Amino acid sequence: MSRKAIIAGNWKMNNTIAQTKELVTALIPLVKDAECDVVICTPYTDLATAVELTRGTNIKVGAENVHWAEKGAFTGEISANMLVELGVEYVIIGHSERRQYFGETDQTVNMRAKAALAAGLKPIICVGETLEEREAGKVEEVLVRQTTAAFEGIEKEALDNIVIAYEPVWAIGTGRTATAEVANDTIKIIRDTMAKLYCPKCAENRVRIQYGGSMNAKNASELMAMEQIDGGLIGGASLKAEDFSKVVHF
Ligand code: 13P
Repeated sequence: MSRKAIIAGNWKMNNTIAQTKELVTALIPLVKDAECDVVICTPYTDLATAVELTRGTNIKVGAENVHWAEKGAFTGEISANMLVELGVEYVIIGHSERRQYFGETDQTVNMRAKAALAAGLKPIICVGETLEEREAGKVEEVLVRQTTAAFEGIEKEALDNIVIAYEPVWAIGTGRTATAEVANDTIKIIRDTMAKLYCPKCAENRVRIQYGGSMNAKNASELMAMEQIDGGLIGGASLKAEDFSKVVHF
């Protein structure tokens, strides 16, 4: 398999600058030999500190969102150029918490992804069904819709710079991880969708798809052993250096 594994932490709304210094300093030596790509996505206020501390290491820094406009009257938003200027490389887009609590839609996810790519950022695009949707047998319908909309107007050439994160909403922060089989089978649906949108070879070789949702030191190796799973987007377990490094060394 030619897809390199990528483990990314999503700190969500956690860590002050002081806590960032502590966590990143502890993390650097623990993950320096990692064979996978290592990313930490932090709140905006921690980004400069994280970039500064990780300079020259194998840890890349990401933001947790980005606006689609270059600038303007969008109170509270941050543009892609602002992130690039800080030295940020990745950005999470369309996390289910954004969709659930902040009105993010398939269309805004697409607009944010295009703006991120245009500025040279690498989007981590999140998709995933709710428990209701899974129980109603709508997993495929939801994932095909979310994936198709997110990639609208994005050229094949950009695929190497995009990561997809499959995060079933019912597994996030609940301790209820999807079984490795369920995660694998569901990610296959996303990969098949990408094959249809682009080409089978692109989907097989160039599209990295992470699993996210209560992934931790204990279950990472089982999940990462699955053929379709190329990485993890880690919430709670990314907040402690030891825990996150164990996931990184799955
Ligand atoms: P948890 O790992 O805390 O379940 O969060 C997953 C997540 O939402 C990562 O983006």
